[in-house]
Amino acid sequence: MLGNFTYCNPTKLYFGDKSLENLDAELAKYGPNVALVYGGGSVKKSGLYDQVIEILKRCGKNVAEIEGVMPNPTLKKLREGIEIARAAKVDFILAVGGGSVCDYSKALAVSVNCDDDPWEKYYVRFEEPTCEIVPVGCILTMPGTGSEMNAGAVITHDVTRQKIGHVFADEAVMPRFAILNPLYTLTLPKRQMVAGIYDIFNHICEQYFSGEDDSTSDYLSEGLMRSLIHSSRIANADPNNYEARSNIMWTATWALNTLISRGKTTDWMVHMLGHAVGGLTDATHGMTLAAVSHAYYSHIMPYGLPKFRRFAANVWDINVEGMTDEEAGKAGLAAMEAWMRELGLAMKTSELGFTADMVEKAADYTIVLKGGYKVLTREEIVEIFKTSL
Ligand code: NZQ
Ligand code: ZN
Repeated sequence: MLGNFTYCNPTKLYFGDKSLENLDAELAKYGPNVALVYGGGSVKKSGLYDQVIEILKRCGKNVAEIEGVMPNPTLKKLREGIEIARAAKVDFILAVGGGSVCDYSKALAVSVNCDDDPWEKYYVRFEEPTCEIVPVGCILTMPGTGSEMNAGAVITHDVTRQKIGHVFADEAVMPRFAILNPLYTLTLPKRQMVAGIYDIFNHICEQYFSGEDDSTSDYLSEGLMRSLIHSSRIANADPNNYEARSNIMWTATWALNTLISRGKTTDWMVHMLGHAVGGLTDATHGMTLAAVSHAYYSHIMPYGLPKFRRFAANVWDINVEGMTDEEAGKAGLAAMEAWMRELGLAMKTSELGFTADMVEKAADYTIVLKGGYKVLTREEIVEIFKTSL
């Protein structure tokens, strides 16, 4: 049975190759001081930076640039940005980049006007903002995280290397608008494209592999997975295929804008394991998920057999008639793995610089969540990390 829930997503989306045309009107809603946040240079290479600067100037904005936001953005970088944004008295934050830039901008938005230490407040005590939140807008260049339409912000502690996500309950943290132009994603290196694709897929899995109820959300999830598998194969063979790249971008947003988790329990343990690996190795987010997936799903499958059977039949079109649940579940996971290899994803954590001597620390850093088919013990976490190597 569907549980009680609230659904509200205030992010306004502009999708398509003309979507940047809406930026002027959106900027007009906010004050004159804008923090422009971007990454390590891809937006300068692509020419998007110049286009955005031109629009900001045309709109009469004073621009404070926060550049060099790295993949897996760090607390140190966040502190630097807070200083810049405070000095510029920013009224608005414009994120131009991937999930890291967008997440960082949200963490900045809840920290600029806050006297508390952001790490302690948001990533240790998981408190909600008690200060004025600076509004954020996002121009997305990499589909994957869903950060453009959710309230998540993942930050890595630069000293301890703990990578922690906070999904804020306050809707004011969500981007006020997001500009999604699939053309911007065409410059992504293939490795990033496929990492993003697996991130999307896994977001859906995290919400699908939990609960036994007859839930509309699970049917939505199956449709999203089928569309993603289809488009990923086209994009893998022909990265410039606009139709496939636009479908991937749209699926990414729906995979993690809170819709498909409504009314049901969720798992998220692949992300908790992946974040521990990503914190210690600084590896690409989607690759860390791919590399722990086999070990994790093989481990929990016996506790959630009916859903794994359904996954095989409804997502991978496997004829499961006459198979035991276990046989069907295994066949589904084998199909998923074959697809992952086809895309060229990391299948082992050792491919990402994760080593046996990191296992204990990774287990210390893994946050254990309770919504999946099996609440993991520390011994199981250690075992999964060892199997993933
Ligand atoms: O820094 P630049 O030069 O822009 O290069 C980036 C970066 O090196 C590059 N890139 C992005 N768009 C490009 C491009 N290169 C060429 N052309 C383009 N159009 O790609 C690299 C990766 O970018 P990044 O933003 O780090 O990737 P992603 O979007 O996967 O974001 C990863 C971060 O998001 C967090 C992850 O943990 C990680 O820190 N997540 C956020 C979530 C959320 N808000 O809900 C959920 C996710 O599960 C995830 O945890
Ligand atoms: Zn993810």
